[in-house]
Amino acid sequence: MRKPIVAANWKMNLTKKSAEDLIAKLNEFVYEDVEVIIMPPFTLLDMAASIADNRIKLGAQNCYYKKSGAFTGEISPDMLVDIGCKYVIVGHSERRHIFGNDLLRKKLAASKRAGLIPVYCIGETLDEKRKGKKESVLSEQLNIIDNLSMSLIVAYEPVWAIGTGVAAEVVTIRETIKLIRQKLREKGVKASVLYGGSVKPDNAKEIASETLIDGALVGGSGLNASSFLQIIDIFKEVRKC
Ligand code: 13P
Repeated sequence: MRKPIVAANWKMNLTKKSAEDLIAKLNEFVYEDVEVIIMPPFTLLDMAASIADNRIKLGAQNCYYKKSGAFTGEISPDMLVDIGCKYVIVGHSERRHIFGNDLLRKKLAASKRAGLIPVYCIGETLDEKRKGKKESVLSEQLNIIDNLSMSLIVAYEPVWAIGTGVAAEVVTIRETIKLIRQKLREKGVKASVLYGGSVKPDNAKEIASETLIDGALVGGSGLNASSFLQIIDIFKEVRKC
């Protein structure tokens, strides 16, 4: 069975001291048979790269698509690689809804050029779900990755489940991931597919037991060492060969 992926998107949280404490706890417990990724804000990436155990992989939450230049305030994929990142989130809904879809194709291509693996987030809003538009919204979001042969992770994060404490039901996740995999196959794109949206120790077992789901993109529960380690442990146990 494929190695599950458990990633923590820290969003705009933690300062140097609290991040050091969290990483110190993660360093004690992380296991070989789960791909564990932490995604701190830019300000903490360098510190995280220097103190995190090398079994914990590092990802950024965003990047710009240019290699370098006069783009005040932006960070390039090459800069992220330079400080030790392996992954980068592209298209998180908290940004997509502000900045739109247009840049994402360029960001995916730029990530590939730099050798980063994008964690490409897709998902429908509550309104889109209610109006029966989920499939068309996901298709449109997946169309952006057309013609890109690259290592890729897709994270299905229904917007209505993010930060609400209520994850999507596993049957819904399964059906949606089936759909996503079918669309990826049609495009000839190979990708791992994660679920994100209120993943926590309480529901991780149910989610991990659905083998169509390659892992979890965790928000709030990734800021607490005990919760995050429990989720990692659950994936490790449930997916044991
Ligand atoms: P929560 O786990 O806090 O719902 O956040 C999910 C998320 O947005 C991860 O990218």
